[in-house]
Amino acid sequence: MTQALDAAALTNNQKLINWVDEVAALTTPDKVRWCDGSPAEYQAMLDLMTASGTAIKLNDAKRPNSILVRSDPADVARVEDRTFICCEDQADAGPTNNWKAPQEMKDILMPLFKSCMKGRTLYVIPFSMGPIGSPIAHIGVELTDSPYVVANMHIMTRVGKAVLDVLGDDGFFVPCVHSVGMPLTDGAEDVPWPCNADNKYITHFPETKEIWSFGSGYGGNALLGKKCFALRIASVMAREQGWMAEHMLILKLTSPRGVSKYVAAAFPSACGKTNLAMMTPTLPGWKVQTVGDDIAWMKFARDENGRQRLFAINPEAGFFGVAPGTNELSNPNALASASRNSIFTNCGLTDDGDIWWEEMTHEPPAHLIDWHGKDWTAHADRKAAHPNARFTAPAKQCPVIADNWEDPAGVPIDAILFGGRRASVVPLVNEAFSWPHATFLGSIMSSEKTAAAAGKVGQLRRDPMAMLPFCGYHMADYWSHWLDMGRTGGEGMPKVFYVNWFRKSPEGKLLWPGFGENSRVLKWVFERCAGEADADPTPIGMLPTPDALDLDGLGLDDACIAQLLEVDTQGWLDEIPLIREHYAQFGDKLPQALVAELDALEERLKAGA
Ligand code: GTP
Ligand code: SPV
Ligand code: MN
Repeated sequence: MTQALDAAALTNNQKLINWVDEVAALTTPDKVRWCDGSPAEYQAMLDLMTASGTAIKLNDAKRPNSILVRSDPADVARVEDRTFICCEDQADAGPTNNWKAPQEMKDILMPLFKSCMKGRTLYVIPFSMGPIGSPIAHIGVELTDSPYVVANMHIMTRVGKAVLDVLGDDGFFVPCVHSVGMPLTDGAEDVPWPCNADNKYITHFPETKEIWSFGSGYGGNALLGKKCFALRIASVMAREQGWMAEHMLILKLTSPRGVSKYVAAAFPSACGKTNLAMMTPTLPGWKVQTVGDDIAWMKFARDENGRQRLFAINPEAGFFGVAPGTNELSNPNALASASRNSIFTNCGLTDDGDIWWEEMTHEPPAHLIDWHGKDWTAHADRKAAHPNARFTAPAKQCPVIADNWEDPAGVPIDAILFGGRRASVVPLVNEAFSWPHATFLGSIMSSEKTAAAAGKVGQLRRDPMAMLPFCGYHMADYWSHWLDMGRTGGEGMPKVFYVNWFRKSPEGKLLWPGFGENSRVLKWVFERCAGEADADPTPIGMLPTPDALDLDGLGLDDACIAQLLEVDTQGWLDEIPLIREHYAQFGDKLPQALVAELDALEERLKAGA
């Protein structure tokens, strides 16, 4: 391992240096190491992890420069019930967030953080969310005692000295403190995946813009640039500063004539953001390229015609994608992205030193070592990979990454899609009448629970704008912010569409083939933005006329198409009381404009019934 770098050689930012000193005094690590983001440093982390038993080096011929890590079985996903928004007034956190007063939470956290890094190294990770120096980007510094976090942050964010140069002597950064919460007291032996079984706290302080995370080493709990900063804290900054931080993919859609438009899409977890962001269109001549697969930051700027538009960046530099189900058919581009220089967590290990997960190949390997580290055969009645097994892969390795994905100016967003899993009621695609109507559609977003999720199958979970677990403040204030953004942006705002790839026939069969065929819907979206495609006004929004949607060669019969595009008046009328119930929990803060949209929808439905 290379020598720890001296802070003085990297930065004169006294606030940063003082804060690192304070946290080091609190957590008492054996060493402090300032990270420079270099390949040598990344290699040092991999070496450290393989030497300590945290990681297994994969076969370089099969999966160059990549490792497999197995987490503690009690630390495999984000923990929403241990996630807190800590603002002074509970009313500012709202009914959808866990809340604690800042001082109360600090009183809980400080004893936990006291000496919690004993026997470990404290790593200082200066990182940029977004291209370094972009006017849409922001800087954070994560302090962590986990080399696994350092290596992941190298892939997921931009780390190093260049970040400190942009930060300068007094620039703003979000301080992020993370500990696995397992001090090595009195020379105690380390374990492959240290974490804290009794205490996990993922905490956010929106007023002071701080993040403190204790007890978990996994994903969004520990890679604090992602959900904690880029969504929860950033959503608060965005509201204060007049921009948007959203749980959206960003894609570049290019027509056969070579015209490009940019589409952002908010779908809840496991509803296909990564798939859509990297999809291979089945329509000849159309091209989809990836800008981002999970998060979008959007700020106003003037386009080349002097028009005020929303410009988006992907604040991340890598993909932290769900592994199971990813294969050559469902998402070859995700697979290629993780072909090398990647970190695999909780996947199976094949006998030839590669990884495997459910549905990766048609035929499972006869034998492998499962994510518990135990022998597994194709006949085993348990899974080789954990359902939330993930790959961490550099975005630049994606074969269809957009040439301009790192443009510091961002890309101008032409359309926003909302979506979820709905077996009934919601049609294939539906365009909002206006920005307030779009905000209404986002606010009532819902998805049906699959068999894998807790609760009744088919039960609706409302997940407004796919931000339910990620909005750092009161959800109704967030809707007001959306409405405000529309007033600021006026005619330059993106067109908004609600899509549903998951509508089923009464017999329970998926009506829409999805995946690459979703390019047909993207084409209609493109043409609506260009003013080239027809739409019919209906009570719920603008639907494609039968001829406007390109269904050539799909082989869907007329009845199927009619079901996909049906406006289910009774189904919508039945949903009105459920939406009123959903809205009731937000009390006085609920924007009247949304109530007006709901009332107007009900009236239109009744008039049409
Ligand atoms: P997070 O990374 O957790 O935020 O989720 P994500 O939105 O990126 O979801 P992901 O791409 O991992 O979701 C994949 C799931 O969606 C799998 O079950 C896919 O089979 C399914 N899926 C993706 N696209 C389609 C589609 O067009 N049609 C159908 N029927 N299923 C799809
Ligand atoms: C999600 O849950 O939406 C994720 C995974 O992208 S994590 O980064 O762990 O939050
Ligand atoms: Mn996500």
